[in-house]
Amino acid sequence: MKIIIPGGTGQIGRILAHAFHEEGHEVVVLSRGAVADAPFRVVPWDARSLGGWVAEFEGADAVINLAGRSINCRYTPANLRALTESRVDATLIVGQAIRRAANPPRVWLQASTATIYAHRYDAPNDELTGLMATGATDTPKTWQDILKVATAWEQAATEGGPLPHTRQVLLRTTIMMSAEPGGAFEVMLGLVRRGLGGRAGDGRQYVSWIHEHDFVRAVRWLIDRDTLAGPVNLAAPGPLPNAEFMRALREAWGRRLGLPASGLVLEAGAWFMRTETELILKSRRVVPTRLLQDGFKFEFPEWAGAARDLCARWRAARQKASSFAEATEDKEGFGRR
Ligand SMILES: NC(=O)c1ccc[n+]([C@@H]2O[C@H](COP(=O)([O-])OP(=O)(O)OC[C@H]3O[C@@H](n4cnc5c(N)ncnc54)[C@H](OP(=O)(O)O)[C@@H]3O)[C@@H](O)[C@H]2O)c1
Repeated sequence: MKIIIPGGTGQIGRILAHAFHEEGHEVVVLSRGAVADAPFRVVPWDARSLGGWVAEFEGADAVINLAGRSINCRYTPANLRALTESRVDATLIVGQAIRRAANPPRVWLQASTATIYAHRYDAPNDELTGLMATGATDTPKTWQDILKVATAWEQAATEGGPLPHTRQVLLRTTIMMSAEPGGAFEVMLGLVRRGLGGRAGDGRQYVSWIHEHDFVRAVRWLIDRDTLAGPVNLAAPGPLPNAEFMRALREAWGRRLGLPASGLVLEAGAWFMRTETELILKSRRVVPTRLLQDGFKFEFPEWAGAARDLCARWRAARQKASSFAEATEDKEGFGRR
């Protein structure tokens, strides 16, 4: 297949692009910047206007649009504007490129987020009966603000009405847990390793997550299955309260105790790190009903197993990196002697 990935240079995009490239597919990443040493083609675009990049869409099999400014920031008015504009503009222009193509891609997978559902503890949100949080007034203002970003983003994807020849899927993704450096898993594991991996806030809020292998498998499934269109939750079927989530992570790492963090401590930490507590304190209880109904089988349905796998792979990658550094040092030392 030929698979185009606008915004494919981020955490999710790199994992998908490498996985599809290794399977022998033709991968083309659209990026606003240069990418060193990519084994696939990287084509420039500005994520908001038509350009030479649109030619790539002719006859492509799939477009997976991931472009958008990172949500890991303070939700100030300026940042919220940038978050919305970067997502809406990129989505609209991808839609235009698809509409203009004489031989358009068969499927458009458009990034969205599980944040679009309401903060709730009582029952899981799925694509069929989930509570959409639009209009919620019982949560902090910043939580409502980020929902507006999520809603505008999905609306941009459907602007212009149904596409005649391209199936569209909205990827309502929960936190993707990867052993690669720089993601949410490494941040959480970092807390556990420092003895700080206790519950956050009152620990009752649900954490929805998906293991990176299942994420890639689900994306491949959605490309292949002509029957699935519209919103699809990319979440493991076993979301769990934050206190249990952190306990399972501590056990997987081999630490019994972890200091809890109160809401106030989290607020102060988030302020210093220029991020928001919404990412930790909102109860995201999201389940993948449509994928399960379609017959998708998760390799990592439960967090305990996923956490053990991620910890083992994180450790192995660290050991490999430090043996490589030692070997390089030895070689350089030998050269100097
Ligand atoms: N990671 C998760 O767990 C998760 C969960 C739910 C939803 N999502 C969504 O899925 C998408 C991909 O996730 P990710 O973690 O890979 O995101 P990411 O690391 O933030 O990467 C997104 C990519 O978007 C491009 N980008 C950044 N700022 C932009 C701007 N102002 N205008 C246009 N493009 C911009 C960048 O590519 P270039 O600089 O190369 O152009 C960047 O590599 C994101 O939209 C994210 O919100 C992610």
